[in-house]
Amino acid sequence: MKSIASAPGKIILFGEHFVVHGTKAILAAINKRVTVTSTFTDNNTIKVNSELGTLEVPISSSYEEAKSEFRPFVYLANKMIASNQNVNGLEITIDSDIPVGVGLGSSSACCVAAAGSIFGLIKEWSSEEILKISIESEKTIFPDTSGADCTVCTYGGMIEYPSIEKIGNTFGLNLLIANSMIPHNTKNSVEKVNKFKENNEERFSQLCDLETKLIDEVITAMKNNDTTTFGLKMSENQKYLEEIQVSNDTLRDMISYLKEISLGTKITGAGDGGCIIALVKDENMDKVPALLPNDEECFSAKIDTKGVVWSKI
Ligand code: PMV
Repeated sequence: MKSIASAPGKIILFGEHFVVHGTKAILAAINKRVTVTSTFTDNNTIKVNSELGTLEVPISSSYEEAKSEFRPFVYLANKMIASNQNVNGLEITIDSDIPVGVGLGSSSACCVAAAGSIFGLIKEWSSEEILKISIESEKTIFPDTSGADCTVCTYGGMIEYPSIEKIGNTFGLNLLIANSMIPHNTKNSVEKVNKFKENNEERFSQLCDLETKLIDEVITAMKNNDTTTFGLKMSENQKYLEEIQVSNDTLRDMISYLKEISLGTKITGAGDGGCIIALVKDENMDKVPALLPNDEECFSAKIDTKGVVWSKI
């Protein structure tokens, strides 16, 4: 028997970093997915196959002994095995079309799909249960996670986190994603922002209030089909991200190259590398490749309305 689960990647439209400190955020699942397939084996091992390599460890191994990228899988396998005495081994295979380490939710989508797939070997689980264990597994890599990424990867669509209610009117939003090809480390960026907060407590609290207000204005703009305001708010949010120092020259250059043809542009995710998103009018889409350096990958993303999907064969 194979238990197969897939989950979408994501973009953060508004509120990254501030969400770790309790503000709301707007996120959307995108049409790039990861699929995890799990099977029982008799090998007394947990085996993980992924594009990052293969790991095979004895069934009793702790996740802490594994390399960071494999920890969530070993954690989930251990947890499932602990509640099922008859399991003699597990093989977990990951197939992904989400670029790794660039803020598009590869790690969260893996945690969600792996939770659905590994626990799906026993029975079908609700989205709420999958989300809970996927966040636990993500914490093995990044203990301070806000949980926003796993939430949107589980439920799909566009959400105003912490609500899981899907935002209905997304006015056919077509966003351009451009990848700086600089891998980032979410944990390090979040720690850097923690330091900024410690050294600038009052200003950081003001920025959190500004972010909350901005998100309320975005929600109103969406209700009014007002893409111009939506774009302006993206650029305003970028100023807050610049202020907390998660941008760099490459990202600033990319944002400025796209300025003329977009309604708004900003970092998506932790920053310090990774991707930017731009709201580009349809008629300007074909001008994009000429504006960005050749080595920077770009593509347009559609919102994925399906979150985690599970099946058994
Ligand atoms: O770059 P990503 O996909 O790891 O996104 C990180 C988003 C943060 O707000 C910086 C952290 C979080 O847990 O929400």
